[in-house]
Amino acid sequence: MPISAAVLENVIREAGSIALTHFRNLKHLEVTKKRPRDLVTEADVAVEIFMQENLAKHYPQFGFWGEESGQSANQSARWIVDPIDGTHSFSRGQYFWSISVALEINQELIFGAVYAPALDDYYSAEKGKGARKNGEPISVSSESNLADAMIATGFACLRSYLKENNLQRFCRIAEITTGQRRFGSAAMDICLVADGQVDAFWEQELNLYDVAAGVVIAREAGATITDFRGKEGIFPKQILVTNRKILDQILPLM
Ligand code: IPD
Ligand code: CA
Ligand code: CA
Repeated sequence: MPISAAVLENVIREAGSIALTHFRNLKHLEVTKKRPRDLVTEADVAVEIFMQENLAKHYPQFGFWGEESGQSANQSARWIVDPIDGTHSFSRGQYFWSISVALEINQELIFGAVYAPALDDYYSAEKGKGARKNGEPISVSSESNLADAMIATGFACLRSYLKENNLQRFCRIAEITTGQRRFGSAAMDICLVADGQVDAFWEQELNLYDVAAGVVIAREAGATITDFRGKEGIFPKQILVTNRKILDQILPLM
C-alpha cells in the first residue's frame, strides 16, 4: 500500500483532538443547517480543512473528496473523508460520532479508518490485511439466529423526507430480533458489525463518504456488504452490512 498506516493514524488522531476541543466547548459551537434536518458545525469544517491540508502534505499524489468541501481535481486516486460522521450527536454532546477516512484508487477501496475520539476507539483496515480496533484484530460476531441478533440502523431517509422510508422495515425486523440500536454514526455502525458488537446494520440514502472507510474495515472483518436484495457491492443509498451468518434470514425482511 502506498501509504503508512502509522502516519495516517497520527493525522487522524490529531484531527480528533481538534474535534474534541470543540466538543468540550459546545456552548460556543457554531451550528448551521445545510438542509432542514441536516447540520454542519464549525468542528466539521475545521476537521475537514485539517485533514485535507495534512493528507496533501503527506500524500500530494492523491485527490480529496470531503463531505463539506466537495471533490478536488484528481478523483482516480482520492481520499474520501467524512470529517464528523454523527454531527447531530456531536452537537448535543453525545459520544457516538467519528472521523471517517478512506483511500480509493481506481475505484477500489484499499484503506479505511474510523476514529471515535470521545470513546478513543480507532478502527482501521488495509485491503487484504485484516481489520483492527485499537491495534487488535477484530471480526464479525458468531450469531447465526436472527431472533437472537442485535441490529442497528439509521433514518437518513427521514432527513430526505422520503416516502419509501425505513419505518416499516425497522418495525418488521425489530419485532423478531432481540436488540435494536440507532447509534447515530453510520461509519461507526458499520465498524460495530466488524467488531461483533452488532450483527447487522442497514440504512438508505447515505453517501459514499459515510460508508467507504467502514466498508473496508467490515469486509476485512468477514462482513457481507450488499444492497437490500442481497446484491454484493457498495450501495450507499441502500446498504446492508451483516456478520454473513444471518444474511439469508434478514434479506426477506428488507
Ligand atoms: C449522518 C450519520 C447518521 C446517518 C445520517 C448521516 P453526518 O452523517 O451517519 O448516522 O443516519 O444519514 O447523514 O450527516 O452526521 O455526517
Ligand atoms: Ca456522515
Ligand atoms: Ca459529516
